[in-house]
Amino acid sequence: MARARSPLGLVPVAAAALACDPDGAAPPPWHASARALLEQVEADEFRRWPSEVIEGHASHGAFSAVFVNAVFDAARTDPRPRVHWPTGSVLVCEGRDQADGEARTLQIMRREAGSAGGGWIWAQYDGDGEPLDYGTATTCLHCHAAGDDYVRSVSFAGE
Ligand code: HEC
Repeated sequence: MARARSPLGLVPVAAAALACDPDGAAPPPWHASARALLEQVEADEFRRWPSEVIEGHASHGAFSAVFVNAVFDAARTDPRPRVHWPTGSVLVCEGRDQADGEARTLQIMRREAGSAGGGWIWAQYDGDGEPLDYGTATTCLHCHAAGDDYVRSVSFAGE
């Protein structure tokens, strides 16, 4: 006689699958730092910083709105030769579908004193500000290595 298989045998599996619901899982430890960085640039009112919208060449969006803080802006126009942007430089990039549209991705770079991550903290969020990536060992570096000290859309003065 064939062994009867109880359909109820599936119940514990289904219960285990529910327990793995990603919405219920603890967020990765870097989420808190990523959120703190976004809160900081929003408190600093980054949308009022010097900015420019350019056609995007990256995966950030069809258009990139790039906002730079005062530390970076001063360095950008300083004609003295340099190999690094100053510590405290912050750049925010909104990836947009339309030049004047909503952000569908948000990227932040902040220049740190150390050399990890090329000297930058890297952070990426979705259009709702949910963290997608954060830190110094990110997938951002290989593309950004082509820029001046990792900045793609702005060159050192005099170049
Ligand atoms: C496929 C290549 C590529 C990858 C991967 C990439 N970027 Fe970019 N990024 C660019 C380019 C090119 C620009 C210049 C604007 C444009 O063309 O869209 C840019 C612009 C930026 C800017 C504005 C300052 C600047 O460098 O011009 C920030 C901030 C930024 N990216 C952050 C990030 C972060 C954070 C990541 C990783 C999560 C990342 N990028 C991954 C190519 C890339």
